[in-house]
Amino acid sequence: MSERPLKVGLVGGGKGAFIVHPHQRAINMDGTRRVAAGALFPDPQVALEEAENWPYPIKGYGSYDEMIQDQAKLPEEERLDYILIVTPNFVHFDPAMKALEAGIPVFCEKPLTVNLEEAEKLVRKVRETKIPFAVAHTYLGHWTSRLSRYIVRSGLLGEIRWVDAYYIQGWLATKLEETGNQQASWRTDPKRAGLSGCGGDIGTHALMQLRYVTGLEVKRVSARLETFVEGRMLDDHFTAYCELSNNGKALVRASQICIGHKNDLGIEVAGTKGALRWRQEDPECLVVHLNGQPDRVYWRGAVAAGDGFLPADMPQELLDEITLPSGHPEAFHDAFARLHRSFEADVRKYKAGQPVVCDGSKYANVEDGWMGIAFIESCVKSSKSDGAWTEVPPLP
Ligand SMILES: NC(=O)c1ccc[n+]([C@@H]2O[C@H](COP(=O)([O-])OP(=O)(O)OC[C@H]3O[C@@H](n4cnc5c(N)ncnc54)[C@H](O)[C@@H]3O)[C@@H](O)[C@H]2O)c1
Repeated sequence: MSERPLKVGLVGGGKGAFIVHPHQRAINMDGTRRVAAGALFPDPQVALEEAENWPYPIKGYGSYDEMIQDQAKLPEEERLDYILIVTPNFVHFDPAMKALEAGIPVFCEKPLTVNLEEAEKLVRKVRETKIPFAVAHTYLGHWTSRLSRYIVRSGLLGEIRWVDAYYIQGWLATKLEETGNQQASWRTDPKRAGLSGCGGDIGTHALMQLRYVTGLEVKRVSARLETFVEGRMLDDHFTAYCELSNNGKALVRASQICIGHKNDLGIEVAGTKGALRWRQEDPECLVVHLNGQPDRVYWRGAVAAGDGFLPADMPQELLDEITLPSGHPEAFHDAFARLHRSFEADVRKYKAGQPVVCDGSKYANVEDGWMGIAFIESCVKSSKSDGAWTEVPPLP
């Protein structure tokens, strides 16, 4: 396949939409991908107007059905290379499945779907077709998340005993959904958000950070989904005490009512030899604590293999992922760009007929998306039985 820029089609993103914009900047960041088309809004007329008003020329469609059907008819070289789904949660499954049926790779926002049945159908379809599929768990794209994963999974902290994975916000401390706020209104509506508000929206990010960094699975949960804002239909505070696959323990917690917290996602991992701490609001460094030694602070771009803690044989691929010299800060957009860059590599392999190992090491895959929904459903069940220990089902 030629090295022409990959063409991305958007599902959602018109009229005051939020997450499409960090994505589209990240897509365009390397010059090797570009947004080429979009079905940007549920109303066809508005969708076409919004495409007309896009900051650069794109082909507008009245609906994602129309976009996928039209693209499926085009010769391979002219077709969209992947679609990006940035709609509210209840509009993830249908466009994702239709794109897969048309042979188009999918980059889908999280949480994957609004129920496990839909998630399972997507897992089965991806296994059957082997089409690349990414779920947008943004924070895996920080280089420091990659380094955390390497440190923990190489056993440098010993056996993992305890993980605290959290995502704390304060923006829904009042009934924002009654003010016409677009993002608040669908996030607090079970028909559009799913079974859990706070847990589904940001608890899934905390869970994914835990699973990505440690490689451990959550086996059982004792959870509480709480609603502090009166009259709100879904939880705005979410706490899950977890048993991990190595018999370690974890807390996966999320909140939207902690005034002062913005996007306070972080992880602490405590092992028998040492511990690690990382926060996405300060994403350029991670701190390692070793028993009886001064704390070590690792900065992206300034990491040396063989420094007395990191082994001399660190994978070159990991070191090569750095894109800016240390001290020129990377953040949210760069994390998204790293995910799209990794996905691009898989899409190019897929299009060239080469085997693609979509194993979750560079971005969350469809099975990670399924795990997020399985975790949420188990937490909802546990919370309804007063926090009773509840199994999280294994992957189908
Ligand atoms: N990865 C992250 O860090 C992150 C951050 C924020 C949001 N998200 C996820 O992204 C998704 C969107 O969230 P948001 O905050 O951008 O929402 P938003 O309300 O700002 O934008 C959603 C967009 O989808 C459009 N839309 C709805 N139904 C559609 C349809 N049938 N066809 C075409 N367009 C349609 C809306 O008009 C709007 O343009 C959600 O699933 C959310 O969980 C992820």
